[in-house]
Amino acid sequence: MVELKTLENLFLDTLKDVYFAEQKIVATLPEMEDAATNNQLKDAFAKHLAETKVHVQRLEQVFAIIGTEPEAKTCDAILGITDEGAEIMEEYEGSPALDAGLLAAAQAVEHYEMSRYGTLRTWALELGYNDAAGLLQTTLDEEQATDLALTSIATSVVNQKAEA
Ligand SMILES: [Fe+2]
Ligand SMILES: [Fe+2]
Repeated sequence: MVELKTLENLFLDTLKDVYFAEQKIVATLPEMEDAATNNQLKDAFAKHLAETKVHVQRLEQVFAIIGTEPEAKTCDAILGITDEGAEIMEEYEGSPALDAGLLAAAQAVEHYEMSRYGTLRTWALELGYNDAAGLLQTTLDEEQATDLALTSIATSVVNQKAEA
C-alpha cells in the first residue's frame, strides 16, 4: 500500500535537503575564496561563509521547532552545482575569466538556496510554524542580499577583466 505523504513530510524532507546543501556550501566556500583573484570577490565569499554557518544553525532551530533531530539528506542538486564550480576552478585556473566563472557558480548556488528557502518559508506558514517561517525568511533575505552583492561585483569589475 502506498504511504500517503503530507505537506508536513514534504516540509521535513526539503528541510533535510537544504541542511545537507548548507553544509556542503560551508565546505566549498573556502575553496572558492582561495581560488578567487579579485579581493572584493574573496571578501564576499568570506562574508558569506560566516553567514552560511549561521544558516546551518537556523535550520537546526527549525528542526527543534518542529520537534525533530537535525538530519541531512543528500541533495543531488547542490552536488551538481558545486561540481560545476570545481570544474571552473580547475579548467580556468590562471585565466582572466576565472573570477567571472566563480561568480556565476556562486550565483547558481544562491539561486538554488533562494528557491528552497522561499518554498520552505511558504510551507512553514501553511503548516502554522510561524517562528520557523521567520527564521527561513531571515536566511532567504541574506541569500538575496548575497546574490545582489555578487551581481554588483560582476558588473563592476570581474566581467570587464574577463573580456580583456
Ligand atoms: Fe545559505
Ligand atoms: Fe547562500
